[in-house]
Amino acid sequence: MHLSVIGCGYLGAVHAAAMASIGHEVVGVDVDAGKIAALGTGRAPFFEPGLDELLATGLATGRLRFTTDVAEAADADIHFLAVGTPQAAGGHAADLRFVDAAIDALLPHLRPGRLVAGKSTVPVGTADRIAERLFPTGAVLAWNPEFLREGWAVHDTITPDRIVVGVPDGARGERAADLLRAAYAPAIEADTPFLVTDLATAELVKGAANAFLATKVSFINAMAEIAEATGADVTLLADALGHDTRIGRRYLGSGIGFGGGCLPKDIRAFAARAEELGRGESVGFLREVDAINLRRRERAVQLTVDALGGRAHGKRIAVLGAAFKPFSDDIRDSPALEVAVRLRGLGADVVVTDPAALDNARAVHPQLEYVHGRDDALRGADAVVLVTEWDLYRREMDPQSAGALVAQRIIVDGRNCLDADAWRSAGWRYHGMGRR
Ligand code: UDX
Repeated sequence: MHLSVIGCGYLGAVHAAAMASIGHEVVGVDVDAGKIAALGTGRAPFFEPGLDELLATGLATGRLRFTTDVAEAADADIHFLAVGTPQAAGGHAADLRFVDAAIDALLPHLRPGRLVAGKSTVPVGTADRIAERLFPTGAVLAWNPEFLREGWAVHDTITPDRIVVGVPDGARGERAADLLRAAYAPAIEADTPFLVTDLATAELVKGAANAFLATKVSFINAMAEIAEATGADVTLLADALGHDTRIGRRYLGSGIGFGGGCLPKDIRAFAARAEELGRGESVGFLREVDAINLRRRERAVQLTVDALGGRAHGKRIAVLGAAFKPFSDDIRDSPALEVAVRLRGLGADVVVTDPAALDNARAVHPQLEYVHGRDDALRGADAVVLVTEWDLYRREMDPQSAGALVAQRIIVDGRNCLDADAWRSAGWRYHGMGRR
């Protein structure tokens, strides 16, 4: 099939390359000429494992190309809409200006029978509004939310755990679903569930999924707060809860909480939209989910200050991690960086290291000191704060050799990912979050 992908960020670039890899002719469109130039030479403009290889193959076969000119998308059977929907400045709602701009640009090129499939995360009701705008062109709108995780984006796009497709009623909707079935044929042949819904349900699935995931993380972090008041250990608690198959251990990782370009802004936009619909109280708990999450960042700072005897001023602190999670260079709403910035704000001499996110971090927080090598960060540190659980820190950091580099053997494990006993046996004062 001929496909276009409008918006080539974390979502769109991967989608374009993945669709080319399963045999479609794909053109990726973005207004950012720098991004398009990089993608056109097979370089992902961000860190995503496996994407460079996928781009290279797609470009070499000639099935994948990138452009800033939306007119080149005119031949596509399906136009996937993958632009960003950031949090609006000064509020909690989603800023839909990129969605609207993409539709403005696409409208003159749409033809009867063509399909626009929205993948961006939008407030419920957006699809109806866009469908009205498309109506005079004879093109149809479907909503096809994307559930990929950064760091696993290639895997999640090629082998998703489900495909959700919201379509309008009637024959136009059936045709839209058929087109998307054809686009995703390999995944469907591999028994991936394919759920056809109305437009509003498809929009809601994405918001609800992210709200549930955020709630799960904040739930275990709320238990960490209780554990701190009682001497219990939240990681053992999570293990015990996780054996209940109705609950499950995944996404019960306690620590400094969730961040990134999706969960924080999506739960806020979800709550803001519910307020507009007069159903604010239905998701009032999301305010608590957000508040618990933000408290954990401050808790990590407090633990560090306490571990340093009540004063961080002038102390050398090695912060291990800047990305919001491992296998990503994304620092949007990164809890890791926020902990670093707050410690710096207390007068600490903070040095940050991260295997992938340093350039992005430096661009936003030039006041922090950055070093590439983990051991360079550890050297002379009065305290070590682990905030992104890269294998380099979690698995490959030996407490004895790390201990030989630091000034004081104090470690705060902001992701509860280290073996506390091993670190204590090596003479470290180990502080987890909600752990004994
Ligand atoms: C998330 C959803 O998983 C994905 O389905 C959606 O499409 C976009 O948002 P992503 O933001 O890439 O994906 O990251 P994810 O792996 O879900 O982690 C989000 C945040 O939660 C990270 O900051 C991570 O460190 C944190 N997290 C995750 C925890 O604190 N504990 C956990 O147990 C899991």
